[in-house]
Amino acid sequence: MFPFRIKAFQELTAAELYEIFRARAQIFVGEEKILYPDADGLDYSSLHIFRMQENGTVACYLRMFPDPEVSSALRIGRVLAVRKGEGLGTALMQTAIRTAGTQPGIHELRLGAQLHTAGFYEKLGFIRCSGEFSEAGIPHVAMRLELSSPAGGAQAEAPAPPDARASLLSVRTAVPGDAPRLLEIYAPYVRDTAVSFEYEVPSPEEFRRRIESTLLRYPFLVAEENGRVIGYCCAGVFKNRPAYDYAVETSIYVDPVARRTGAGRALYTALEDALARMGITNLYACIASPEAPDKYLTRNSIEFHSHLGYRLIGEHLRCGYKFGRWYNMVWMEKIIAPHTSPQAPLTWFLKL
Ligand SMILES: CC(C)(COP(=O)(O)OP(=O)(O)OC[C@H]1O[C@@H](n2cnc3c(N)ncnc32)[C@H](O)[C@@H]1OP(=O)(O)O)[C@@H](O)C(=O)NCCC(=O)NCCS
Repeated sequence: MFPFRIKAFQELTAAELYEIFRARAQIFVGEEKILYPDADGLDYSSLHIFRMQENGTVACYLRMFPDPEVSSALRIGRVLAVRKGEGLGTALMQTAIRTAGTQPGIHELRLGAQLHTAGFYEKLGFIRCSGEFSEAGIPHVAMRLELSSPAGGAQAEAPAPPDARASLLSVRTAVPGDAPRLLEIYAPYVRDTAVSFEYEVPSPEEFRRRIESTLLRYPFLVAEENGRVIGYCCAGVFKNRPAYDYAVETSIYVDPVARRTGAGRALYTALEDALARMGITNLYACIASPEAPDKYLTRNSIEFHSHLGYRLIGEHLRCGYKFGRWYNMVWMEKIIAPHTSPQAPLTWFLKL
């Protein structure tokens, strides 16, 4: 089984779109005998969340789009799992809930559930918000979920920016062809800051090799806003001894012009989700730290990681020299899964 894909319409390949329509027809027309106009135009403004399986078909799918009636809500529809009884539906919905929680100005998820599926959504925290009604001859009930993530909770009182609904963020696995754009994002951090301790901007070929070699074992993810890549993150070897395999080092870079728009949280949420599914327990971030903030380095990254649940575990004094200045480096840690004995074996990202 492959990782979840979260894609705007224009990012879907022709094959993915074909398989999505095939799965929707198989479930809703073939199995449930519902005759409905499937191509209703809403796919264009939807985020499509799905998982492929080894034979190239869709294992589970849903779409999520701006609610036409409630500006701070997204609607979920066409929820399906081709393979039943494996927890795919729950994992799919949890991915959608997490994704919705990263969308600026979005505080609520809504859907129209077939009555017999209402219990499934209730287990995920949805509540009924209408009486029974009929749609395509099938009894339905309206349901809603208030998003409890900071994006949907702490900022719940803030009015949605007018264009928030037009800019859905999505996160997907990187491909080697992303290298030139990712390098555009990374290069200024190498050239103009001490955020990265590299002196020279790597070549596109070298960056491509980094993506390829990371993906053999670990996630390498990119965030897109309206089809444009605006940031990336990845995990890598923490220390090259097998006992350390349950720990990874994380890394994240967001285009300077797209910072503080939720891309960092969206990327790290997706990264943690993938790492947790691999069986990883410990995350480590190795972060340049200024003795006093200067024009090359602030405490931004340390504060961002603290905000996302990392704790400071150590500081190396003056171990980095760049632009003729000495910088400290800190290690920060986040535990994302319990440590047990025996510990379940890891699954490399490639095999998820
Ligand atoms: C660090 C970085 C990845 C953050 O990305 P971002 O897209 O700006 O972060 P987001 O907008 O998603 O912010 C996510 C959350 O962190 C908070 N946050 C972001 N920067 C913060 C900071 N400096 N201090 C406190 N909180 C911060 C946001 O308020 C937001 O909170 P919320 O989701 O609870 O509302 C980005 O600033 C960056 O690319 N920096 C340069 C590269 C870097 O330092 N990488 C790490 C190298 S180890």
